[in-house]
Amino acid sequence: MLERYGHGGDLATAEERFGLPADGFLDYSSNMNPLGPPAAVREILARYMDEISKYPDPVSRKLRAKLAKKHGIDQSAILVGNGAAELIDLAVRALRPSRMAIAAPCFGEYGDAAKKAGVPVYEGLLRSDADFELGEQWVTEALEASGADLYLLGSPNNPTGALVEYRHIQRLLDSGATVVLDEAFLDFLPDDEHRSLAAEASTNGRLFVLRSMTKFYAIPGIRLGYIVGHPEALEAMRRLQVPWSVNSLAQAIGAAVLEDEAFAGETWAWLQSESEFLRAELRKLGFRDYPGAVNYLLVRLPDDAPFTSTELQQEMGRRGALIRDASLFTGLDHRYIRLAIKLRAQNARLIGVLREAIASLGGSGT
Ligand SMILES: Cc1ncc(COP(=O)(O)O)c(C=O)c1O
Repeated sequence: MLERYGHGGDLATAEERFGLPADGFLDYSSNMNPLGPPAAVREILARYMDEISKYPDPVSRKLRAKLAKKHGIDQSAILVGNGAAELIDLAVRALRPSRMAIAAPCFGEYGDAAKKAGVPVYEGLLRSDADFELGEQWVTEALEASGADLYLLGSPNNPTGALVEYRHIQRLLDSGATVVLDEAFLDFLPDDEHRSLAAEASTNGRLFVLRSMTKFYAIPGIRLGYIVGHPEALEAMRRLQVPWSVNSLAQAIGAAVLEDEAFAGETWAWLQSESEFLRAELRKLGFRDYPGAVNYLLVRLPDDAPFTSTELQQEMGRRGALIRDASLFTGLDHRYIRLAIKLRAQNARLIGVLREAIASLGGSGT
């Protein structure tokens, strides 16, 4: 199993498993922006030696100032973390819910963070016949059945790509619950600033917005994310955070990439056209894709496929291409995979490998 440690993008496990060098894989199992990292990252790395003998700013002041400007909020409403993953964990521990609700399928760390904190979890299933969108019915059922005082939801959700409409968040807040909204992939949408609830979260004591900088800027090895919320609530999270958890290289890179406005525009243009291309090619092979405007696709295998997602992952891995076996997400089964969207040449190669793997597994690959 490629997701031995719970996530895609695990090239070291892929190397062990498939016997090919880690850097030689076509990796569609994690969702990084293929246009990144932005040029500024290389420049910072070149002059970073001088910084290494100093402690990082413990509260990431320069980066927070830029993030505050981006969202039009006060710096005190931002806490920077060692990736959004650290902040998911900190948020659950600091908010100390008696019960937490999540919408499955979703990013595995939501449930894991609750388990680590000893918090019982309600997993409300999203329905495939509703394209896995979190709708009115999900909210009604969750409010009736979950008993949750904390909702941790992804928008866009991973692996479905679906956004959560504001009116649903509002209903959950109106019930008196706290909502942590994970917008880790929202910057892939051209109107992300307009859609983000960061400004509202900065003053509302029960709404928090999580953002990751690792996906959009393609710096997952650096680890960088932040959470927006009421300053007092963030203080409780900061107190639980390990000192200097955000190193100075991550802070410098974060501050620099935010200056690169052209990068965002190029990303949005690329995604629009490549998403259409990949979706069309997958349909030709009999796959079903789900709506969504992010840089990954939840895909269902052809109805007559004589193989499972796990077998397909294995067959493709042997050919040097990694895909996410989505059966490992609660609420999905062996008919689902998740694919990143990359550049045209890579996407075309992926389709070629898919076709070969399907043929070798006895599928028609029409
Ligand atoms: C939905 C979602 N949220 C948060 C994260 C964590 O991101 P980071 O790399 O910033 O820790 C991930 C990583 O895959 C994710 O998919």
